[in-house]
Amino acid sequence: MAAPIRPRVSSAPISHRPNLKTNADRPPFFRKKLAFGREALTLDGMNASEPTASRPPYTREQILGELKTLLPEWHSPIDLGFGINTAPRKQTRFARRLKLLGIPADLKGMRVLDMGTWDGFFAFEMERRGADVFVIDMWDDAAFQQFDFARRAKQSRVQGEKMDAQDVTPERLGQFDLILCAGLLYHLRYPLAALEAIRTICKGRLILETVGMVPFVHGRFPMIAFFPGDDEAMRTGRYWGISGAATAAWVVEALRSAGFSRCEVVHEPSARLWKRLAALVRNRPQGGRLIVHAFVEQDAR
Ligand SMILES: C[S@@+](CC[C@H](N)C(=O)[O-])C[C@H]1O[C@@H](n2cnc3c(N)ncnc32)[C@H](O)[C@@H]1O
Repeated sequence: MAAPIRPRVSSAPISHRPNLKTNADRPPFFRKKLAFGREALTLDGMNASEPTASRPPYTREQILGELKTLLPEWHSPIDLGFGINTAPRKQTRFARRLKLLGIPADLKGMRVLDMGTWDGFFAFEMERRGADVFVIDMWDDAAFQQFDFARRAKQSRVQGEKMDAQDVTPERLGQFDLILCAGLLYHLRYPLAALEAIRTICKGRLILETVGMVPFVHGRFPMIAFFPGDDEAMRTGRYWGISGAATAAWVVEALRSAGFSRCEVVHEPSARLWKRLAALVRNRPQGGRLIVHAFVEQDAR
């Protein structure tokens, strides 16, 4: 059994913040992290014995009223009913992401984990497809409040816990038929160790969406950009624009090395020729969306 992975820096107090004043001043990968605190969040609402589905449904006015108390900028377009959507302008982008991810249409009877769920868009969608969904994230307060509100407003049964993706173990979480890990790997200090940990809790399929690195040449080599993890990058104020991006070859090799028996690259960064030329001109690798499905033995048919 793999021992829990303890990131060296994540437990250290953040002694200072980068000298960045507004969210817009931050590089894209860090824009959400304004209040990325170390405080433990109270997740009683999520672990309460009363599932939200048994509460009376919210009225339109209640939803609109509570929305006003939350951070107005949402990560994803969550349908709250009554024609209310948390980020209507992002609907097309997320519809495309959903299509590209290739999440099975029917998830009935499956236990599913959404890692780095943020406000819960994919978790709610997988619940809609019939799954029993658990989520983890290192939410700051504002993001957790959005997620928790969406969960209540949708009368969702999604359960979850604030947990570092690098610390997952079968003892803490059990195992899952399907794991979605979208937009998360490139935030981590120990991406290979995280994949090893994820393998221990996966008994079916991992859907991994991350930033693929597109260098000018040598894209076929298993390369990953150095990245010290979000905590360290924020603590020191040193940012790497391409974060922990890896070539598709690295992702596939890393998944195999972590113990997945079969990998399928289902989407690679688009406009690769153009990006390679941009890498040459700008003298630095470029990035784009990379999606890989990885299977454990019993599902590797
Ligand atoms: C870019 S967002 C991705 C959100 C969503 N999964 C998606 O694909 O749209 C990254 C999410 O991962 C979370 N996160 C970052 N580092 C994490 C860690 N070490 N463990 C768990 N979650 C983490 C962030 O809080 C954030 O919600």
